[in-house]
Amino acid sequence: MTPEMVQKLVGKGFEVLVEEGAGARAHYHDEVYRQAGAGVVARAAAFDVDILVKVRRPEADEVAAMRDGGLYIGLLESCGEDEVLAAMRAKGMRVLVLERMPRISRAQSMDVLSSQSNIAGYRAVLEAAAHYGRFVPMMMTSAGSAKPARLVVLGVGVAGLQAIATARRLGADVHAYDVRPETKEQIRSLGAKPIELDLGESGSGEGGYAKELSEEAKARQQAALADELAKAHIIISTALIPCRPAPTLITEAVVERLRAGSVIVDLAAVNGGNCPLTEPDQVVERHGVILVGHTNLPSRVPSDASAFYARNLFNLLDIMVERGEAGPVLKDLMADEITRTMLAER
Ligand code: NAI
Repeated sequence: MTPEMVQKLVGKGFEVLVEEGAGARAHYHDEVYRQAGAGVVARAAAFDVDILVKVRRPEADEVAAMRDGGLYIGLLESCGEDEVLAAMRAKGMRVLVLERMPRISRAQSMDVLSSQSNIAGYRAVLEAAAHYGRFVPMMMTSAGSAKPARLVVLGVGVAGLQAIATARRLGADVHAYDVRPETKEQIRSLGAKPIELDLGESGSGEGGYAKELSEEAKARQQAALADELAKAHIIISTALIPCRPAPTLITEAVVERLRAGSVIVDLAAVNGGNCPLTEPDQVVERHGVILVGHTNLPSRVPSDASAFYARNLFNLLDIMVERGEAGPVLKDLMADEITRTMLAER
């Protein structure tokens, strides 16, 4: 929560408690939370509340500190069977899993995966530019001129679209590829060039997500992409499939063909990477190419990442409560499609 959203929650009649120092690294200080109307409390007290909102997966000691019968709202960062969820349910808690936010237009303003992917796409381009030992835009100076960097974006979801837009603003020559054919028009509308491959099947899956390709199509994709990628100076790869290992799009053979000093920022590092040479949370050099494997890029834009996350959560809380005599009252969470979909059954 940011102080701005705390103030709005207080205005709705909530009593808000913030863990001391929680916003410090995003430059939101305890004093400003107090001015916004929050109580700033020690860690244990912050967990012992009716509704707890948090960013990352709770630790076991945090679950122990949570209030029996309370409501938890946050990211679980897991798939399938989950011991953290089981521990919370054993305490009679209800859990709203933010990863399960339905992809419908009414839920867009509450979707933290979207807001954080957007930030990750932006930051990925800045990371690439910072590690690249050459200019990104075309430069004409009295000391000579430089060609624009050829930048390829793989995976054109929320992060990929923002990466394209940011790279265009920096003046790169941008090319992009996605398995979902509907992205071509979006790529063109941002002033980039779509890379077209014939895989013999579409990668569009359910609910706007990509589906995993057949083994045959995967092999065809790798081979067809290789020549396009070998021409790149910077590659931003964002191809993720929820709860599956990330597809290998950049093979070691492609990395060997890249010009020395080229940069790959692999946003799929958290799920094994779109390049097998990526190391999660490391910046490594392989075959003269710099591979950036940061798994939490939004944390490198902390103030706005928090501001967007807090706004998403405020918008969610706003549809969950109605005004009662003594303050806000929680509505039936099964009555609304959004909260019903997010409510963890197990
Ligand atoms: P994501 O993070 O799940 O995946 C990133 C991108 O990688 C996707 O575009 C996917 O098609 C692509 N990809 C997967 N496998 C690939 C492969 N083998 N080769 C190349 N590309 C591959 O995607 P994200 O950011 O969640 O967005 C997916 C779609 O959902 C977008 O159209 C987005 O606009 C939409 N969306 C809609 C929301 C809403 O209506 N509330 C909220 C969030 C996203």
